[in-house]
Amino acid sequence: MPSADAVRAAAADSGLDLSALPVHVGIIMDGNGRWARSRGIPRLLGHREGYKTLRSVLLAANDLGVKYLTVYAFSAENWRRPKVEVEGLMKLIERAAIDELRIMFRNNVRVKVAGRLNEVPDGLRRALEKGVETTADNTGITFTLAVNYGGRAEIVDAVNRLMAEGERSVHEDKISAKLYNPDIPEPDLLIRTAGEMRLSNFLLWQGAYAELVVVEKTWPEFNLEDLVEACKSFQSRTRKFGGDAE
Ligand code: FPP
Repeated sequence: MPSADAVRAAAADSGLDLSALPVHVGIIMDGNGRWARSRGIPRLLGHREGYKTLRSVLLAANDLGVKYLTVYAFSAENWRRPKVEVEGLMKLIERAAIDELRIMFRNNVRVKVAGRLNEVPDGLRRALEKGVETTADNTGITFTLAVNYGGRAEIVDAVNRLMAEGERSVHEDKISAKLYNPDIPEPDLLIRTAGEMRLSNFLLWQGAYAELVVVEKTWPEFNLEDLVEACKSFQSRTRKFGGDAE
């Protein structure tokens, strides 16, 4: 494994401005199924390979100096998949949450989750909650796993919390304050793999002004160089936030 300094030096050599990185990167990790199908192997092996990619991309993002990484591990719509795939994904994420804890510590990663955790199997919920609790004081990258996550559901949950507190009207700041992780800044860059140009209900509220980068490779094929290229593409954009870039 190259050191963080070597990762940063190689990225700078390839033209990345390390002083202007996206602070928060979100990733829709798409194409595990296609990766597996093209090899004639079960879809779950694609997800397992995607897990390996996620580990290396998380550590690479941390090395580069990205402060927040949020990934779509299981969407609120993914329950519609065949039972064997849903159960396999739940088990894979649970195993990962348990097995990776030591690596999260060694790399100073702070783990967060986003989604309706009350609807996921108990074992997975407990593993995720333990990861969040035990890494809460880490000061490196904040890594958020979106599990049973839907952007619309997140907004609905925020509004319902406001109503439960007796609010009679809402405005943007009030909703922002009730999202799953209100302290995490909005994503600057959203990456989607496998060529699809859709948000698929990911970070709908927070991603309002995010720059989008779509990569043709499937998620298991995605690597550090692709992350650096996506960040370079982000740096080439002029962000206007609805106003005038000048
Ligand atoms: C989309 O590919 C991917 C998912 C629905 C799951 C993402 C899960 C992982 C990357 C692995 C496990 C995660 C953790 C946190 C350990 P797809 O199946 O929709 O691909 P397809 O569109 O080619 O069928």
